[in-house]
Amino acid sequence: MSLKLQKSDRVPFWTPRQPKVGKFLRYFDGVDRDPPTLFQPLDIRGMTISNRIGTSPMCTYSSEHFEANKYHLVHYGSISSSGPGLVIVESSAIDPLGASSPNDLGIYTETQAATHKENIVDWAHVHNIKIGVQLGHAGRKASLAAPLNGQLGVYVPKEEGGWPDDIMAPSAVPFDDSGVTPKELTIDQTRKIIKQYGISAKLAVEKAGYDFVEIHAGYGYLPCQFYTKTANKRKDRYGGSFENRTRFLLETIDEVRSSISNEVPIFVRLCADENVEDPEGWKMSDTLRLLPSLVEHGVDVIDVCSGGLNYKEYGWDHPNFLPPKEIAKQIKEHSDGKILVASTGGSQDGAIANSFLNSGSMDILLIGRIYLKNSGIVWQFADDLGIHLEQAKQKAWIFDAEGYLKK
Ligand SMILES: Cc1cc2nc3c(=O)[nH]c(=O)nc-3n(C[C@H](O)[C@H](O)[C@H](O)COP(=O)(O)O)c2cc1C
Repeated sequence: MSLKLQKSDRVPFWTPRQPKVGKFLRYFDGVDRDPPTLFQPLDIRGMTISNRIGTSPMCTYSSEHFEANKYHLVHYGSISSSGPGLVIVESSAIDPLGASSPNDLGIYTETQAATHKENIVDWAHVHNIKIGVQLGHAGRKASLAAPLNGQLGVYVPKEEGGWPDDIMAPSAVPFDDSGVTPKELTIDQTRKIIKQYGISAKLAVEKAGYDFVEIHAGYGYLPCQFYTKTANKRKDRYGGSFENRTRFLLETIDEVRSSISNEVPIFVRLCADENVEDPEGWKMSDTLRLLPSLVEHGVDVIDVCSGGLNYKEYGWDHPNFLPPKEIAKQIKEHSDGKILVASTGGSQDGAIANSFLNSGSMDILLIGRIYLKNSGIVWQFADDLGIHLEQAKQKAWIFDAEGYLKK
């Protein structure tokens, strides 16, 4: 056997060739049996993920000119080399006016897509991880301050790089009482935005090299502003009836589908419930009504969340509040196995995380904030369940070497 390490051909610089990081190897006790569900591979439209843990999209507010940089290489590098089955990269604006803050990532130019490839995608592929990007347009929630200094929900004035006078939404209904009222999109502007989702999806797949895309229709982003009556007061083909209000999302899905190869999976993050008592609010029953259309339009994975759409929303302590894993369970029950469901669950223990999948609550467990605290969470889940996984070579060898720190 050669003593020379093999070079990875995924990046221009020297780094060792890696196995499929996060793939099940064996139980600690050496007895041959199936891996726990959490660590079984899953096929999504021909894309196979090595385990059923995904990183939930989380804005890092660390871009200048909406481009990825070395921060993203370090941040997503530590996540993607730690072995989740898939990574969903933070909301990346499909249009400069649709960025939630001046420090968001964007994916509407070739230059931006090239920075995603160099600083995010290639490193995930060194570790044989599947990675996708969330395509975002924040609509009336655009031009907010990056909250890194604790300023939540503050619109950035023009002098400081914001665009409060150019914020667009289905109707001129403000998100909150900040005094910033969005401009109502014309039909032509609406169609242009739908086209832009397709352009960004194509850039994401063909230029940046992402394995899948996710349409951000959760947390009050533009597609939800169209589908809820509380934000959409239009009288044209994009407002009024249920069919008209959901048209924007369905046309966006079709545009994305026709802009990328048929083999590339499409995820949709959906705000399943607006969490308001207002009868005009989007409800779980509306989500279940929309479900067959999402299946029909070729969505592969529904990634569920709730809230973020109405500043009058109730919290988790309200009797009507549905936790994401309960939403996911209801969607799975109604979908008859025709669509995969991803959801956050908040577990910090591998056995509990595994039980979410065994109980049929979801197909993919997404991890958000815990990943920020503990980028070794996948390895920890494997330890909790008594199994060895493939790990990045630089970390694995000391645990594998006979006579060394064997688990
Ligand atoms: C810092 C931060 C940034 C986030 N950014 C996004 C985002 O870009 N897109 C999105 O859909 N959700 C975003 N979320 C929501 C998370 O993806 C996730 O749904 C939420 O944190 C709940 O999961 P958790 O309990 O595992 O953290 C963000 C959450 C956090 C904490």
